[in-house]
Amino acid sequence: RKLSIIGMPMDLGQMRRGVDMGPSAIRYAGVNERLKPLFDEIHDLGDIPIGREEVVVDKESNLRNLDLVAEKNANLADKVDEAIQSGAFPLVFGGDHSIAIGTLAGVSKHYNNLGVIWYDAHGDLNTAETSPSGNIHGMPLAVSMGIGHPALTEIGGYAPKVKPENIVIIGARSLDDGEKILIKEKGIKVYTMHEIDRMGMTKVMEETIAYLKDRTDGVHLSLDLDGLDPVEAPGVGTPVIGGISFRESNLAMEMLEEAKLITSAEFVEVNPILDDKNKTASVAVALMASLFGEKLL
Ligand code: ARG
Ligand code: MN
Ligand code: MN
Ligand code: MN
Repeated sequence: RKLSIIGMPMDLGQMRRGVDMGPSAIRYAGVNERLKPLFDEIHDLGDIPIGREEVVVDKESNLRNLDLVAEKNANLADKVDEAIQSGAFPLVFGGDHSIAIGTLAGVSKHYNNLGVIWYDAHGDLNTAETSPSGNIHGMPLAVSMGIGHPALTEIGGYAPKVKPENIVIIGARSLDDGEKILIKEKGIKVYTMHEIDRMGMTKVMEETIAYLKDRTDGVHLSLDLDGLDPVEAPGVGTPVIGGISFRESNLAMEMLEEAKLITSAEFVEVNPILDDKNKTASVAVALMASLFGEKLL
């Protein structure tokens, strides 16, 4: 088994500084050493260069940094595509969640029916029309369904990357009105915090795995650290109280690993400037270890 790590120090999809240091924070938390025993080979491909530029708001769509977010995500898509072609499991470190646009553009061309687990406090299902912020990190799941600005939906030269019925959102507790409408319209499966509390994470994951297993030929895990509770993962730009615990999240990763379901993954929104002694990056690394088969005994 081979792993390719790709850092995506993207902060152009939102307005808080520091999330561009997410990949460094995750590496500093010891990810290479921790995952080493779990793979035959690990290739850290380094970071995709992003660069620091003035914020540009697209005149016509009102989207912040549209051109750069599109361009850099196209670069990420190529890197992810190459990693898969080389026979490796692609693991991407963010960076804000707009990078899922590029990751999914690189992954999905390798599957006929890609599934996506969106582990997040948010739906990230906004469009320029419904977004309260104009921030592209609130849009990547809609974009990947082919809904949004063509400069984003057409990355990789095809759309959509994922069908609504192949998506499961876990941990939602902050959905904008337009996102709620889209969820109902498209019939997207969502486990909000209500269902997690009510059913327990075990049942949520059993159902998620059963649901995706027979309808997909690969499943991407897009894990936004703000899906976890800010007490345990404080280093995120858009924290929302009442989140998933570390223990529940770790169990979820262990169950995914037992099911051998996940074929690509990204861990996003780690912002060390907002963090408490790199705690959030450490949580991310612990979750990755469980996802890739580290055992307690
Ligand atoms: N729904 C809000 C927005 O669209 C927040 C999105 C937060 N997204 C994230 N990936 N943290 O602006
Ligand atoms: Mn680097
Ligand atoms: Mn989020
Ligand atoms: Mn997100």
